[in-house]
Amino acid sequence: MAVEPTQNIDTLLLEERTYPPPPEFAAQANAQASIYDEDFEAFWDREGKERVTWFEPYTELYQWDRPYAKWYLGGTLNVSYNCVDRHVEAGLGGRVAYHWEGEPDGDRRDLTYGDLQKEVAAFANALKELGVKKGTAVAIYMGMIPELPIAMLACTRLGAPHTVVFGGFSADSLSARINDMGCEFVITQDEAWRRGTTVALKKIIDEALQETPGVKGTVVVRRTGNDVPMTEGRDHWYDDVRGSDDPASCPPEPMDAEELLFLMYTSGTTAKPKGIAHTTAGYLVGVATTHRYIFDLKPETDVYWCAADVGWITGHSYIVYGPLCNGATSVMYEGTPDYPDKDRWWSIVERYGVTILYTAPTAIRTHMKWGPEYAQKHDLSSLRLLGSVGEPINPEAWIWYHEHIGGERCPVVDTWWQTETGMIMITPLPGVTTTKPGSATKPFPGVDAAIYSEQGEEVGPGGGGYLVLRRPWPAMLRGIYGDDARYRETYWAKYGDVYFAGDGARVDQDGDFWLMGRVDDVMNVSGHRISTTEVESALVDHKEVAEAAVAARNDAMTGQAIVAFVTLKGGGEGSVEKLEELRNHVATKIGPIAKPANIVFTPELPKTRSGKIMRRLLRDVAEHRPLGDTTTLADPTVVAELQTRGAEEQSRED
Ligand code: PRX
Repeated sequence: MAVEPTQNIDTLLLEERTYPPPPEFAAQANAQASIYDEDFEAFWDREGKERVTWFEPYTELYQWDRPYAKWYLGGTLNVSYNCVDRHVEAGLGGRVAYHWEGEPDGDRRDLTYGDLQKEVAAFANALKELGVKKGTAVAIYMGMIPELPIAMLACTRLGAPHTVVFGGFSADSLSARINDMGCEFVITQDEAWRRGTTVALKKIIDEALQETPGVKGTVVVRRTGNDVPMTEGRDHWYDDVRGSDDPASCPPEPMDAEELLFLMYTSGTTAKPKGIAHTTAGYLVGVATTHRYIFDLKPETDVYWCAADVGWITGHSYIVYGPLCNGATSVMYEGTPDYPDKDRWWSIVERYGVTILYTAPTAIRTHMKWGPEYAQKHDLSSLRLLGSVGEPINPEAWIWYHEHIGGERCPVVDTWWQTETGMIMITPLPGVTTTKPGSATKPFPGVDAAIYSEQGEEVGPGGGGYLVLRRPWPAMLRGIYGDDARYRETYWAKYGDVYFAGDGARVDQDGDFWLMGRVDDVMNVSGHRISTTEVESALVDHKEVAEAAVAARNDAMTGQAIVAFVTLKGGGEGSVEKLEELRNHVATKIGPIAKPANIVFTPELPKTRSGKIMRRLLRDVAEHRPLGDTTTLADPTVVAELQTRGAEEQSRED
């Protein structure tokens, strides 16, 4: 693994501003300071009983057979029952589960828990009729429409594990995931709305399904209503197969605590994405507990909005499973923040009286660039808590968010976690923690996080190193689907007995954690994980590319941006057209999110005598040299510099 030297971790300028919780907030908060004193086992035992309704109670809290944990052993439950039916049974069927807002103007739909129960039953009955049963793997490829959580819940009702693939991924990425999980059915929609135009999801599915012999059928939800090709016998319009909406006609399947709930694919340091496995009980308890304490959720009065996409782990845990399990009223928005104008988000906050907003630093920086006047056009006084996730938040963005969105009255929770952790792991508790812009502060109660040196010693206050987790937690991944060796190698080989997260971090004198970004070959673009190797493979897949190396540079808006260094076959020269062609090739292979921001064409890549690409040199060049934008070619001195510095390093080796 290419581990960066830690000096950048050590030289961080610590932010000195502090924000104690407002006393009125602290007084009413779900989490009080004593929560940190609770015994780890007693804490998760209580939460296991209070957050979730069991068909059969569990008999053992957890088993820790490193590196695999099991939680709530012996218990049986059903996720859709917990997220929907039990709220209706408790008399809350009239409470809104989702205020859904479509991207086209005026396109709105409120779904109560009662509506949701019927919709989930109807969808589950449709799937059942097509042959989906307990254990059948289902892929879901949709935009942000209510049928997305409905389809997920329908799967959980039947005990069918799902994998949701983000709508921005390509046909190739889709088929790889479908095949890896062995999916037999795919749920999609005709097209999705995005910034006033349509994304042809069904068409991409058709392409993907040419490579997936195991898929027996698809269900297609109508969204835009435009015509899309349907394959007779394989593709079904949802309207045609929708079943009875009587929940009693489709009882929730009792699932063992440790049965597979879903896979979420994420990038690692090789080209093949990892299927991160999450199981039923521990995951549900973990996300419901964290959602309740960290967002201080009052389900009777709050209107909660997580502005992520359900296609990522943030959406799974904090748009679908956590909030619904807690009986929350959420907002779900289909489109982009600047459609039709840059105040769209703030009009949504005003319309629904959003009280809790959870988003990513990249979005905050984008709003910051557009200017506070868009937020000022709207009444944001309903907001009482703000959250951030996905990448380190720079203090400037934190302060802007606090000031211009939160009106200086809302605590900001900067939450660190990963696809693998399933739930938030390091975070302030809004009524307890004194926050510092840029710091995710403290491990969540029951979470044992620490910073280790390269040698595996714990680093004390003031030191920097690698973030590790020393104790299992309920929503912990249960491995990489079908690849035990990779699971052990990725997370456990570095230190042996603790989980290695892949992030650099620092802990200050108060014991607050400051996350410093990835230390491996994983990039973070707009809060999305992208593997350098995956992008390199996509580039080399192009018929004219001989070799490619990818590095990230810092970017004011997206956190990191992708820079590719490419050598063309036969010494071919780069051109602006070639540059665009390669960017599009990456979009076709992986998805538009993985398009390099810059491509440097170079006759050769700097290599060590033993033939290894000098990645550190490339990273340094990507970071410090003007590379031109995507439509111009790089300054020729960059290529010259690659050659001279490569040669210098080689001679230093001799
Ligand atoms: O590097 C960390 C960064 O995002 C990575 C996890 O990415 P993913 O699995 O896609 O999940 C993103 C949403 C949970 C982490 O290894 N990261 C996430 N949250 C933060 C963060 N870095 C710093 N501060 C955060 N709050």
